Amino acid sequence: MAGLERHEALQELSRHHHRALVLALQLRRATQENEADVKEAWLDFWKNGGHEHFIEEETLLLPLYAKVNEIKQNPDVMRMLLDHVSIRQLALMIECDEAKLEDLHQLGELLKEHVHFEEHELFPVMQSTIYEEDLAFMKPRFHEMIDACQKPL
Ligand SMILES: [Fe+2]
Ligand SMILES: [Fe+2]
Repeated sequence: MAGLERHEALQELSRHHHRALVLALQLRRATQENEADVKEAWLDFWKNGGHEHFIEEETLLLPLYAKVNEIKQNPDVMRMLLDHVSIRQLALMIECDEAKLEDLHQLGELLKEHVHFEEHELFPVMQSTIYEEDLAFMKPRFHEMIDACQKPL
């Protein structure tokens, strides 16, 4: 699927992914010195659209994909959802101030791999199989992520 352009309906989700990759890099590179700042940056991202992104994928993208594809036992859908749970678990640990440095590294790695999986494997299949009218239905329902919370560390 290399070279396939992102469908305009999914471009907002791909923009969210760009932001997520910035956070993933910060998380993977977190040190004891900047751990608190990285946690703060993560919570900023998570509370200002990151969490919403997961909800949008689960409540719009997956159900409309399920209209045209058998999702039972679908390994890609299972991976997507399991990744979401694991990412949410680590996000909750950060929120409850239970996360250690290695948890930040794990979240960064997981987030990077998850975004790559969606961008390179899942989204190309989804955009070529979901009905055009369903893609159009979704498009205005994906939120615009505010970039103001992006702070250099
Ligand atoms: Fe996702
Ligand atoms: Fe995503």
